[in-house]
Amino acid sequence: MEYKLIPYPKSISPLKGRVPADAPVSQKVTRSLAKEAVNIRISDGKIEVEGGSGAALLYAQTTLDQLKRQFPDGIPGLLINDEPACSWRSFHIDTARHYIPVDELKKMIRMAAYFKLNRFHWHFSEDQGWRIECRRFPKLHEIGSRRAGDHFGNYCSDVPEGAYYTREETKEIVDYCASFGIEVVPEIDMPGHVAAILAAFPELSCTGEPVEVQTKAMINPLILCAGKEEVFTFMEQLIDDMLELFPGKYFHIGGDEAPKDRWKACPLCKKRMEEEGLTDYNQLQGYFNNRIAAYLISKGKTPIVWNEAAEGDNLSPETVIEFWRGDKEGHVAKHLQKGGKVILANVKNAYCDYPYSMISLKDIYSMNTAPENYLPEGILGTECLVWTEYIRNAERLETYCWPRFAASAEAGWSGENRPGYSSFAERMEALFPVFEDFGIQATPADWWTPEGEAAEKELDEFGKNFPPEVVAMFRKMRESN
Ligand code: ACM
Ligand code: ZN
Repeated sequence: MEYKLIPYPKSISPLKGRVPADAPVSQKVTRSLAKEAVNIRISDGKIEVEGGSGAALLYAQTTLDQLKRQFPDGIPGLLINDEPACSWRSFHIDTARHYIPVDELKKMIRMAAYFKLNRFHWHFSEDQGWRIECRRFPKLHEIGSRRAGDHFGNYCSDVPEGAYYTREETKEIVDYCASFGIEVVPEIDMPGHVAAILAAFPELSCTGEPVEVQTKAMINPLILCAGKEEVFTFMEQLIDDMLELFPGKYFHIGGDEAPKDRWKACPLCKKRMEEEGLTDYNQLQGYFNNRIAAYLISKGKTPIVWNEAAEGDNLSPETVIEFWRGDKEGHVAKHLQKGGKVILANVKNAYCDYPYSMISLKDIYSMNTAPENYLPEGILGTECLVWTEYIRNAERLETYCWPRFAASAEAGWSGENRPGYSSFAERMEALFPVFEDFGIQATPADWWTPEGEAAEKELDEFGKNFPPEVVAMFRKMRESN
């Protein structure tokens, strides 16, 4: 492509002449434009920007920054009419498995904003830690943020860890996001992935047994009891507390990887199923997530769940599904038939915590934003994600996410009208210095689509974290991508 822009604009056409890179820029919000739409006219010695919102004007700043980088001696005359294909373009960062310092998190947010990602899905509750100061239940951060070490894979440490974001820091991050038009989507994962909550409040499980904040990375049988009323009361009060910090419209309530063994052995869970006429334990999860979702809806929020919560086929249609597991696709399609909505986050095109030799830059770029068995009106948009079990420092966080997050940004912005991977890679190479300017260590071009012996080596090294059957699954994913 002639213009080194990411994400590539919807429409760009030449006008006569050139304007100096430091030409005056006039900006205005035009309410008749769609919220994220922006028009940029570069002509007659000046640059005129009109956008549907303040955020759209910020998008124009990125576009202009990229043009100035390419044309420091004068930008060619251009008319750009731009608008995203998907209104939802989120990035997810897990700050629970490993705490990410505020300044590092801000750097990631700043970079994401530069590529016009518009929502930060903040994952802070996990088996391995709860990381936000809680006013209503202080034991939650006091006990839930502390764990006895780090035994996540081929790294072993018994040094205790215990960081969390204070309420002030949380507000600072939410405000920082807002200054770039980014909405924060908080996540309290439930009914599974709750060991840190149970470590502080063990009475919320089926058995009430003592629980420790986990130091290993595996899926855990610990789960909130679906039969105890006090679990719902607690969760509602916890949500109220978090709503003081997170003013956005969306709230994620997890629902992934929730093994049902404890529920199957619990008389209260059994009683709940009978009383509610639920036919199996997936339906009991649907009931659980629906009750919390109803509470959020009563507060004017839109709930989101991972796709396992739809497995009972009884999820309320107002709840958005985040689709990460390809094998659960059928439930998502049914949810859409009922008028539900979906965020596309299928592992093989979205997960940036795996090495590039397994999920390449091209794989992230190739996210299908119009799956044929989904109703188009049900598709909200895309997400790119990083989980941090195996990410303990800024260098790994940044090199794993960048430029993959930028590829996801273009997939969401341009949808099925993307110019194609080879064009993207060429533009990304040209724009690469931007990462250094923003203090981000990105993965260089020779490792975007790794192959051969070096790729095998990277995969072998990563595989040391996992049992052989999981490594075999990883290899299958690499081959299928
Ligand atoms: C997930 O990756 N457990 C949503
Ligand atoms: Zn129970």
